[in-house]
Amino acid sequence: MALFRTLNTLRRETLGLALHALGLHPRKGLAHKSASTLYRTFDPTTLRTVAAPAPQLLTPTVLQVRALVRETADAISIVLARADGQAIAFKAGMFFTVMVDIDGQAYRRAYSASSAAHENSTVTITVKRVANGRVSNWLNDHLTVGSTLRVLGPSGNFVVVPQPTQQRTLLLVGGGSGITPLMAIARTVLAQESGSRIHLLYGNRSKKDAIFYAALAALQKQYPTRLGVTHVLEVPPKAWKGETGRLDRAMLARLFDAVLAAQPLDALEVYTCGPEPVMAAVVADMQARGLDPARLHQEQFTPAAGAADVSRFAAQPVVIEAQGQSWSGTVQPGQTLLDAGLASGAPMLYSCTLGGCGSCRVKVLEGAVDMPEPNCLLPGEKAQGYALSCIARPCSPVRLEIDAPPSH
Ligand SMILES: Cc1cc2nc3c(=O)[nH]c(=O)nc-3n(C[C@H](O)[C@H](O)[C@H](O)COP(=O)(O)OP(=O)(O)OC[C@H]3O[C@@H](n4cnc5c(N)ncnc54)[C@H](O)[C@@H]3O)c2cc1C
Ligand code: FES
Repeated sequence: MALFRTLNTLRRETLGLALHALGLHPRKGLAHKSASTLYRTFDPTTLRTVAAPAPQLLTPTVLQVRALVRETADAISIVLARADGQAIAFKAGMFFTVMVDIDGQAYRRAYSASSAAHENSTVTITVKRVANGRVSNWLNDHLTVGSTLRVLGPSGNFVVVPQPTQQRTLLLVGGGSGITPLMAIARTVLAQESGSRIHLLYGNRSKKDAIFYAALAALQKQYPTRLGVTHVLEVPPKAWKGETGRLDRAMLARLFDAVLAAQPLDALEVYTCGPEPVMAAVVADMQARGLDPARLHQEQFTPAAGAADVSRFAAQPVVIEAQGQSWSGTVQPGQTLLDAGLASGAPMLYSCTLGGCGSCRVKVLEGAVDMPEPNCLLPGEKAQGYALSCIARPCSPVRLEIDAPPSH
């Protein structure tokens, strides 16, 4: 690990010197606490390593609404199918990007599948209203059976692929709408990995806010020895015998102790999705216990906290290249590479806009960019100089190569 860090530092310093020679200077004083900075110089041979993005991230699929299920006052499940009846392949934990036009304005939002991955003649997404949210409220209010939705994906690295002979314990920790990918994982693993067990810790304000409350009770009945569900309610109903409070560090420590009384830490795979404080508490606790980081998986529904601190960025020129064409513009302070690229007219590809899907991946040919962590870019992609344009901001003039123009 120390060697890795040293090599990284060396690489940064060497490439920093190369940038200096090119007259490109990463801005001084940039904090690297919650972000990674990629330094790149142009190497024509690297162009050959640019892989094409997956087709499902380029061309939307039109899906029909087959059923609508009101889960809570604020959340709706939307059961979707292809008109031609073909299966919709996805892995448990993945999400789709829904594209909608509302009052003449185009929006894209990511929604995780909540249905089992093996029951793929349909896929269900479950959408919880966000106060004043454009798309979540529109989806809750405007769809009817027979409506169509254009979607990109599936995408995401927050996945569980069941292996029938595997015997593992999954600890799922979620709050609010963060239950959706966890529900897909639970449904899939319970049905497809008969030797594995699941503990779900699920926090909500009240019982009536708990999405899938009845569905979880039914799953527990079906798999009494393999599924444990602990609801944690801030405002419990009368005669509530379960946990009361928030899924904060103290509550999680107590609940984790109980789970770990039955199995060793290194037998656990932990998946967490929900409000940022819940996820941060899960990560802090598990790190303190020494869980192997490879066993801790997080899905963020909201931008990483580091993304908000944009005051440290200056305006930087950007050149974007694709297939012999180029576009140039300026990335204004606070803008992402994606914002500036779209403003310059470049056919930038994107989907979730939150660093979660990888469809906005660009290759940094020259210059330095800063990206909040964590994000879905794989270590190998980072090492090859890729960045996620939807969350990356430049710290010097940059030249980028985009994967391919979108076909819509
Ligand atoms: C990978 C991924 C998977 C997701 N899966 C789901 C899912 O399965 N179900 C689901 O309901 N949502 C999911 N989301 C969140 C979803 O994509 C939207 O962000 C959410 O529906 C809000 O969109 P909106 O257009 O209604 O709000 P906007 O109009 O974009 O935002 C309105 C206001 O709400 C804030 N805000 C935006 N999103 C959230 C949020 N999630 N919680 C609290 N405040 C927010 C914004 O900062 C803004 O102030 C997922 C997000 C990601 C990145
Ligand atoms: S658009 Fe999904 S990671 Fe950038």
